[in-house]
Amino acid sequence: IVTHVILTGGVGSRLWPLSRKSQPKQYLEIFEGKSLFEMTVDRNSHLASKVMVVGNVDNHHLSGKVMEKTDTNYVNIVEATPRNTAAAIAFAAFASDPEDILIVTPSDHIIDLMDNYNSSINEAILKANDGFIVTFGVIPTKPETGYGYIESKGDKVISFREKPNETTAKEFISKGNFLWNSGMFCFKAGVLLDELKQFQPEVYEKSKLVWESNKDGFLDLNSSIEIPSISIDYAVMERSKKIKVVPASFSWSDLGSFESVYEYLMLKGHAVDANGNMVIGCDIHTTFLGLKNTIFVHTNTANLILQKENSQDVKDIYSALEKQN
Ligand code: GDD
Ligand code: MG
Repeated sequence: IVTHVILTGGVGSRLWPLSRKSQPKQYLEIFEGKSLFEMTVDRNSHLASKVMVVGNVDNHHLSGKVMEKTDTNYVNIVEATPRNTAAAIAFAAFASDPEDILIVTPSDHIIDLMDNYNSSINEAILKANDGFIVTFGVIPTKPETGYGYIESKGDKVISFREKPNETTAKEFISKGNFLWNSGMFCFKAGVLLDELKQFQPEVYEKSKLVWESNKDGFLDLNSSIEIPSISIDYAVMERSKKIKVVPASFSWSDLGSFESVYEYLMLKGHAVDANGNMVIGCDIHTTFLGLKNTIFVHTNTANLILQKENSQDVKDIYSALEKQN
């Protein structure tokens, strides 16, 4: 069977203050009344016969509300604390039959061109059936440092490099055979677990223990804290020899940082002044004087003013501030 695994445990710290621990960005109903989470569920509902939502205890009621609306057969995995994507994906894999095909997607991407999406996923399912871990490669448009890079030849993956620095990212782009990793994956549950066991035995063993002691999908806090926090990209994708890539022929955007939100909103006709300044979340007239490429973010409880180039650093403010409240 094919299961859609939705990762929704991240807090979206690079989008603070739009995104909060209590209201992560994927649950903001900012796109024609729907949240990115709900759009993710809809987009995959005809591709899989089962859904697993891996989220955390702070906001699983938000995903629950959406899942109850759609009448899907779904399993809830509720993390007591985020331990990053290697563990989150491992829980879903332990909860599955080793032969089950998992389509793992984040819950915070904007995707268009559905026919292309469907055919990319179907192509990935075929390769996953042959025992491969399938990634989806997006044609890069700039040396973004927040993404993973896939060096490829046809569907073969020569190397995978997560979040390179800017110099390296520029080299990759100029070489021409590097794609961005979309952050979605497709594989047999058993294949992923074998690779995780080989490359990150501690994550494997500890996640297994945590999963085995779950109570109705709720995971235990004390044993969860013991799981090393590492993303699946570093844990498996950079090291496995079983990776394949299919072209992501659909349109894809990760609203992960203010820079990508800026670009998305600009495409949608949102106002930007002659110096590239933009206001997000506020209708009051706002003027930027002597500033370039500045983003002003307003919410009821906090404002953020940042230089677009500093988008990746917002998570540091988040870490410092959100802990206080
Ligand atoms: N359940 C759960 N638990 N979900 C998590 C956790 C966790 O501890 N940590 C992150 N997630 C979810 C996030 O909510 C998001 O939906 C997804 O997993 C990916 O995490 P991000 O934190 O957004 O990863 P990233 O954007 O830095 O990098 C990944 O995505 C890029 C494309 O958007 C990587 O796969 C990159 O290689 C890729 O280019
Ligand atoms: Mg992301």
